Amino acid sequence: MNFKEELKKRTEDAESVIRKYLPEEKGFARTMAEAMNYSMTAGGKRLRPILIRETYRLFGGEGELCEPFMAAMEMIHTHSLIHDDLPALDNDDYRRGRLTTHKVYGEAMGVLSGVALLNRAYEVMLTAFDLTEDKERVIKAMQIMAGKTGINGMLGGQSVDVENDGKPLRREMLDYIYKNKTSALIEASMMTGAVLAGASEAEIRTVEQAAGEIGLAFQIQDDILDVTSTQEELGKPIHSDEKNNKVTYVSLMGSAAAAGKVKELSDHAVELLAGLSRKNEFLELLVESLVSRRK
Ligand code: IPE
Ligand code: IPE
Ligand code: MG
Ligand code: MG
Ligand code: MG
Repeated sequence: MNFKEELKKRTEDAESVIRKYLPEEKGFARTMAEAMNYSMTAGGKRLRPILIRETYRLFGGEGELCEPFMAAMEMIHTHSLIHDDLPALDNDDYRRGRLTTHKVYGEAMGVLSGVALLNRAYEVMLTAFDLTEDKERVIKAMQIMAGKTGINGMLGGQSVDVENDGKPLRREMLDYIYKNKTSALIEASMMTGAVLAGASEAEIRTVEQAAGEIGLAFQIQDDILDVTSTQEELGKPIHSDEKNNKVTYVSLMGSAAAAGKVKELSDHAVELLAGLSRKNEFLELLVESLVSRRK
């Protein structure tokens, strides 16, 4: 398999699914629709929607049932980025190679368009009920998406993260932050794909564990790139963590040991996925590729 080519195809697929669900830029609230679409169409790797589709495929899923969830997940994720960049949080000026939403549209629109994307995600997920007779699967997938986004997931992690800027952190709390601010949406993506395809409870638990490790590795790599990459390559500012006096895996153990941790977590996640009696070669290669990602 030519991984690069396959990744390009799947990224384009995610891109076209996402575009179908974006709000129209019309009427009195047009500026907010523009602000929502500004960040949604700025690029981004589309990793989470790709993980939804590929985990859906891993368990034999076919067709469009996973598509509203792909678009919704990217909306939830993009909302988290718009808010993460606000002056009240990380105060960053660039994202996905462009000025951040609040820099272009102002802080009020940054807050509102972020929340509007979060809300639209649920509107979009609800349309999945029209695509299947198996309503239970849709309910279960929505429960996972909601749970992993809220106080017991991404938002919980973000809150503890900002609350502790400039403070020393116990490793236990750092792991809580990573597990929630980043792993939670990766877990939700893969679990949703599995649930929609009809995976068993045991399979869903294995997917959750593997995704948790993939997410942790993904955030540690993000911390490494914050000190080793360039703004041109990343599309967002480097040294954001240092600016905000954040404790990270890199500040705790150095980049080399952190890179070792990324590899260890990723290898274990691949092992867990390989233990399922299912195969998706692309998914395996995708997880492995994240270890050496440069953006
Ligand atoms: C950035 O996520 C935020 C983190 C969880 C580290 P991505 O690195 O997936 O950002 P995009 O979507 O490609 O812009
Ligand atoms: C944020 O972590 C994860 C989110 C939920 C947005 P970071 O603050 O390190 O993400 P980046 O580096 O700004 O993308
Ligand atoms: Mg942050
Ligand atoms: Mg940030
Ligand atoms: Mg970062």
